[in-house]
Amino acid sequence: MSAKRESIHGQWSNRWIFILAATGSAVGLGNIWKFPYITGENGGGAFVLVYLLCIAAIGIPIMMAEVLLGRRGRQSPINTMKTLAREEGRSGAWSLLGWSGVVAGFLILSYYSVIAGWALAYVLNAGSGAFTDAPAAEIQGIFTALVASPGQLIFWHSLFMLMTMLVVARGVKKGLEVAIRFLMPALLVLLLIMVGYAINSGEFVRGLSFLFTPDFSKISAEGVLIAMGHAFFTLSLGMGAIMIYGSYMPKNASIAKTSIIVALADTGVALLAGMAIFPIVFANSLEPGSGPGLIFQTLPIAFGSMPGGHFFGAVFFILLVLAAWSSAISLIEPAVAWLVENKAWTRVKASVYCGFATWLMGLGTVLSFNEWSAYTLWGKNFFDLLDFLTSNIMLPLGGLFIALFAAWVMKSSSTANELTLAESGMAYTSWRFLVRFVTPVAVIIVFLNAIGVV
Ligand code: PHE
Repeated sequence: MSAKRESIHGQWSNRWIFILAATGSAVGLGNIWKFPYITGENGGGAFVLVYLLCIAAIGIPIMMAEVLLGRRGRQSPINTMKTLAREEGRSGAWSLLGWSGVVAGFLILSYYSVIAGWALAYVLNAGSGAFTDAPAAEIQGIFTALVASPGQLIFWHSLFMLMTMLVVARGVKKGLEVAIRFLMPALLVLLLIMVGYAINSGEFVRGLSFLFTPDFSKISAEGVLIAMGHAFFTLSLGMGAIMIYGSYMPKNASIAKTSIIVALADTGVALLAGMAIFPIVFANSLEPGSGPGLIFQTLPIAFGSMPGGHFFGAVFFILLVLAAWSSAISLIEPAVAWLVENKAWTRVKASVYCGFATWLMGLGTVLSFNEWSAYTLWGKNFFDLLDFLTSNIMLPLGGLFIALFAAWVMKSSSTANELTLAESGMAYTSWRFLVRFVTPVAVIIVFLNAIGVV
């Protein structure tokens, strides 16, 4: 039955393309923009350690669960959840899990696109030599001026949304496969060059010790919640992006192996970004906890003073845009696929509607950096609230229910079969133990801890 089911949206050519696509979804602004600044805000080493533990104990098992649900259901997450729940004799209301993912993806993309817009603007800045020999204060000024201007932010946000919807409209396979083949390796090479620069910046050891020496007095309960939320965000988990990519995965590929490869690649990129950025922060007496502008205020200093920085700077921001692009596509794909399946819309029509709605929502984030910056709730502006709600609440909750479904609702014979693992073998029993007990309990404890109950 499920073995014969096929996706109406197409299938990846082979398992490498799935790995590239899932890595393209996972590696994005989360690794290069968000990981360094939230690490800086939450005191460094201890935060990084909690984040790494969450990737291993929660992220990888949930990624396997999401891919397996997707590949078994072969539809948009909403319909996949409905079909699989019925197959197991349960209520179709499990499709709500797909719906919450669609909403989370829409909300995340609305601000993701604005930040990706900053990266677009920086391609131009770097390319025009704005950073060459500029002192740190001047580079900070360039960033402050950009976010103070709603007009500029809207322009770049619109451009990025257009790029995203263009690929989504063409279909993930045609649109995406082509782009990602060269993107990931190129990004890796550039990051290595940046780390090479950081090694010579004079403060490499201090940067490393900030990242890797845990000081637990510096991390709060909220910090732990943010670290866990980020594990979901950075691996694209909890909202159906990996589920829908799984639905395009060929039947014979190993889910465990591919998930581990994707998680390792994603973590590697984040750690490299941290190693490139913090030495520069310390060498220039910048503030590690300065917030979302961190990479836009540090890396240009490096580009401004390194030989060939003009060129490397432009290439780096182009790659950052591309990495954000391949993530953005996966944020909206579950919604578009559902419209195509249930409303019989063409991909083009679905992309236009979804893109416009997301663009409109993004204006809130644009304004939260300038006109609305004074409007805050619990000390958070509109953008901060949106980010907190999606990464730290919606994604972990989504992940929790995915784990519960895969481990408690589905029969072990169904999951073992889809994972192509022997039901009594070590690999399967460890996975099942993690998703049955460890993951749900960990997510619940971190939630309760953050609201002060435990
Ligand atoms: N993982 C992406 C990043 O790190 C963001 C993302 C989150 C993409 C959720 C899809 C789903 O940038």
